[in-house]
Formats: sequence, C-alpha cells, structure tokens
Amino acid sequence: MGLLPSTVFIQPMSRFEHRPLDTGNVRPRRTAFSFPQSIPQHWLKGSPAQTHFFNAINLFVVSFEDFMGRVMRGRLVHLKDPEFQRQVRGFMGQEATHSFVHTKYLSNLRAQGYQIDGYLEVADRLFKDVFEKRLGPTLCLSIIAGFEHMTALLAEIVLSSNMLGEAEPAMAELWKWHAAEEIEHKALAFDLLKVTQPSYLLRLLGAFLGALVVAGFLNAGMVMLLRQDQQLWRRRTLKDVWALLLGKHQMAPRALGLFIKYFRPGFHPAQYDNYYLAEQVLQGQEPEREGFRTRSSLETAVPSVK
Ligand SMILES: [Fe+2]
Ligand SMILES: [Fe+2]
Repeated sequence: MGLLPSTVFIQPMSRFEHRPLDTGNVRPRRTAFSFPQSIPQHWLKGSPAQTHFFNAINLFVVSFEDFMGRVMRGRLVHLKDPEFQRQVRGFMGQEATHSFVHTKYLSNLRAQGYQIDGYLEVADRLFKDVFEKRLGPTLCLSIIAGFEHMTALLAEIVLSSNMLGEAEPAMAELWKWHAAEEIEHKALAFDLLKVTQPSYLLRLLGAFLGALVVAGFLNAGMVMLLRQDQQLWRRRTLKDVWALLLGKHQMAPRALGLFIKYFRPGFHPAQYDNYYLAEQVLQGQEPEREGFRTRSSLETAVPSVK
C-alpha cells in the first residue's frame, strides 16, 4: 500500500480510515486492526455456529483474495486504458489489505487452539494448482467476477441487517469495513471480465463455479471449526444455523434473490444501488437498518470501460 497524503488519518476509536465511498477512485484505506486474545472465542452472540459462519469466510477469503491478486495482476498488462488500469490496481490494493487483516485474525484462531493450517493449505493448492494452472486466466477471472457479486450481496445483507449488532466490537468493525469496500469495488472484476471476454455463457459458468467454491469452503470451514469445538451435532447449533439463514434477517432467501440478478443478460453491478450502505460505514456511521431501501429502480448508466 502506498503512502497517503498527510491530511488523511485514522479517526480515534476507529480501526480503519474514514474516507467517503468513491467508486471512481478505488484504493485501499489505512487500517489499524488488532485482535487481542481478549476477543471471546464465540464472538457473535456467544454462538459457535454464527461465529463460525464468519470465521469460515475468514478462512477461505485469505486464499481467495491472494488468488484474485495473482490473476488480476496477469491481466493488467493487457489493459490499454490507464485510468481503468489504475482502478484495477486500487481494487487489488483493497483485496490485498483485506487478506492482510484477515491473516492477522487467523493467528487468533490458532491461539484459540483451532487446527486450521491443513484447510488453508488445501485452499491455497486448489487455487494455485487447479484453478490457475488448469482453468486458465479467463475462466479464473469469470469465477472472480461471480465471487465478487456474491461478496457484494452478502455485504448488503450484513450491513442492512443488525446481524453484527451483538458482535464483539473489533470483529463487527472488521466485517463492516470489509463489507463496505466490497460494495465500493463490486463492479471492477465484472468490468475487467467484460473487456477481457464479454461472453454471457462464460459469465454464467464463472458464477456457477464461484458459488460452488463459496458453498464448498464455507460448509467445510464451518463443519471443521464446529467439530473442533465439539458442537457440530448439538441442538443449539442446528437452531442457530436455522436462525442465521432463515431467521429474522432471511439471509438465505435474500441471498438467492440477489444472486439471480447476475443471470440477467444486461446485468451490471452498478445498476443495483446499494452504495448508500457502504457510504455510511466508510464515513464512520452506522449503516441504515432493515426496512432497507432497494434502489434498484435507480438504474444507473453503466460505465463504459476500454
Ligand atoms: Fe475482500
Ligand atoms: Fe472484493
């Protein structure tokens, strides 16, 4: 991450730099996250299942974000528009910062006694040896674009609900910052795919494979962590998973509804306006709660990229 102007500083009591959302100038924010041992093991409502939902995302995003960085770096030299190239570099900078911060949190999981290194090794090998070597850069890019759609929709659900309202504050701030930047840069991988290979079928295949990656790693991570806690087959676990997916925030049906928007032939991420949620977080405010606005009627002009 490069040096930032001296006028930019991290606000007191905040673990990330408050800078307004700017989709035309995507770049990483400075962060000061640390994860002391005082963070409770089950930091979300004392619930192993709900905590490990986010912990499992934490486990695989580190490998996935590193994979994104490598694939997109390979595409940079082919971009003719310097402005778009700068945007893609900014996107890569944000993802590298996410990976760096989430890697810090992994040390906490190890200190809490979780055996996670085998899982991380498998994830890393899958992306390096199977995806990058066998699938090729264009299909990898299409998987990344599909994955970015999923992170943006999950970010919307997390920010528009009070899902992290009872989370340990450092963890709540970590996920809100990450979610807000996912919304800020949600169109970049899509635009890069469009200039690389605008095929509709390729986009669908990428989304399908991306969904398999997310579902596979998320489930494997949750099962692994819950088993290590000896909480896998507990009644409370099933109840908490049900509450997470189908309880008051309706995560599963909302995620499905948002996911299928991607299949519309003329879809572009910027058409769906959930930027206001990220705007609030990135300025250090609480995001707007449920009863959320869906401003999809504000179909915005799709930015042209070269
Ligand atoms: Fe990210
Ligand atoms: Fe992202």
